[in-house]
Amino acid sequence: MDSISANRQFWNQISSAYQHEHDPQIGATPRLWGMYSIPDAHLHALGDVTGKRVLELGCGAGQWSSALAAEGATVVGLDLSEAQLAAAARTMGSARYSLVQGAAEHLPFAADSFDLVFCDFGGLSWAPPHLAVPQAARILRRGGRLVFNVASPWFEACYDEAASRVTTTLQQDYFGLNTIAEGDDASSYQLTYGDWIKVMRGAGLVIDDLIEPRPDPGTANGYNETDPPDWAHRWPAEMLWVTHKP
Ligand SMILES: C[S@@+](CC[C@H](N)C(=O)[O-])C[C@H]1O[C@@H](n2cnc3c(N)ncnc32)[C@H](O)[C@@H]1O
Repeated sequence: MDSISANRQFWNQISSAYQHEHDPQIGATPRLWGMYSIPDAHLHALGDVTGKRVLELGCGAGQWSSALAAEGATVVGLDLSEAQLAAAARTMGSARYSLVQGAAEHLPFAADSFDLVFCDFGGLSWAPPHLAVPQAARILRRGGRLVFNVASPWFEACYDEAASRVTTTLQQDYFGLNTIAEGDDASSYQLTYGDWIKVMRGAGLVIDDLIEPRPDPGTANGYNETDPPDWAHRWPAEMLWVTHKP
């Protein structure tokens, strides 16, 4: 069973509350990565996008897409949820970009059509990577890049369901992460480091970098409680993969 319909329903249901809670953080300034809003200017993951054809895979309300469109990229924001796409349409500024409803598992684009496919806790967190990564690779042009930020297996393995927080003890089997229940039959996905590498190499991608965003002590996590609060300063909470299609 795939999770497409459950995830679509889930995001339709939570979209309004999610944007109310998180848009002030993720939309505060352009190009902020992840749960700790670390600027791309510090991480150097995306580079210059001027004149590039860019797909955001799971764009949500389009905070990233808007920013890259304003920099002169031709952007398509794809998302599974019509409520999230409606939020993106409502908040789109003068730098316009296209919105498409679809699933990262079955991308509705021709082969070799994008210079950059990217997401920040988007389609590569919410679709099975063994399906979504080959799809992203298929639609990239030669030399095009797939760049994506997801939670780290450390973060997931230390997540204590009962306490609803990330801890300093192992709570889940590293080798059993795979499908993570998000409530109401929705699922997100996580692989081991080895399996992420296998999936990317299997899709013909070259791995250029694995950036481990590290917030300064005291940086708030807008999404999850962590104990201790500076957890992500001490252990890697996220993985920002930078790859290209040779
Ligand atoms: C956490 S948001 C990411 C967007 C933005 N970066 C943010 O942090 O809000 C996750 C997005 O992925 C979308 N999504 C979930 N499953 C998806 C799938 N299979 N394909 C494409 N998008 C999906 C959701 O609708 C949601 O808008």
